[in-house]
Amino acid sequence: MKIIAVANQKGGVGKTTTSVNLGCALAEAGLRILIIDLDPQGNATSSFGLQELEGESLYDPLLGGVSITEKILPTRVDRVFIVPADLDLAGVEVEIARMENHLTRLADTLAPLRADDTFDFVLLDCPPSLGILMTNALAAADELLTPIQCEYFALEGLVKIVRIIEQVRDSGANDRLEIGGIVMTMFDSRTNLSTQVVADVREHFGARVYDTVIPRTVRLSEAPSFGKSILEYDSNGTGARAYRALAKEFVQRHESRDSTPPL
Ligand SMILES: Nc1ncnc2c1ncn2[C@@H]1O[C@H](COP(=O)(O)OP(=O)(O)O)[C@@H](O)[C@H]1O
Ligand SMILES: [Mg+2]
Repeated sequence: MKIIAVANQKGGVGKTTTSVNLGCALAEAGLRILIIDLDPQGNATSSFGLQELEGESLYDPLLGGVSITEKILPTRVDRVFIVPADLDLAGVEVEIARMENHLTRLADTLAPLRADDTFDFVLLDCPPSLGILMTNALAAADELLTPIQCEYFALEGLVKIVRIIEQVRDSGANDRLEIGGIVMTMFDSRTNLSTQVVADVREHFGARVYDTVIPRTVRLSEAPSFGKSILEYDSNGTGARAYRALAKEFVQRHESRDSTPPL
């Protein structure tokens, strides 16, 4: 089992869209996926057509009340499970901050999942901030998957993330953390800007950047309101094809992981 933090401190870059659709595409390929909604906004939760349910989130497990295994719910997609978010999660940061092991609370919470081998990948859909939940996600993760929107300042944002990773490593909370992959999102083939941004990011981050680029398509933004992944909502469209291609590349990379040097 591998834990992947889908993280970028910026909001609106495609973290949730990628967690949900990459997760479903991996499941379509036969892998067993757990998505953990770490954002109190609960966008991943509602993308599966699930209502926010009071008490159904990582809140209690994070505070040591119950095991995470009791908060795992099935979704309507085969092999995709979720730990939903609720608004309580917004308050958990304050509570965790008071705890002694405040950097590794999430890692400790996920430990039972590492022990039993129910899932192939756990995707942490991170909130858009540098708060305690995000740092906990980085401390718990085997690697980082960072969606970057094809727009100005993409590189600046990435430089920040690299610095944060270094801080987490230096803190001793997770010395094996690395950028596992960068996925360019909302690519608009009609603009030179998109093409330029992808070229710049590739120049700096080389093989870390997935070959697959996610196009901007209104279908991807519509799907969540129907509680469906793009694979179900528009199965043959460009969005679904892109996320299937990303899943394929993701699997290939994880089969030959040892050959990629850490960043
Ligand atoms: N490739 C895309 N094309 C069009 N809209 C997208 C695409 N990816 C995400 N969106 C939309 O952009 C908004 C932000 O995406 P989201 O995945 O929620 O970002 P984040 O989780 O990083 O805040 C959402 O409304 C989403 O539906
Ligand atoms: Mg989100």
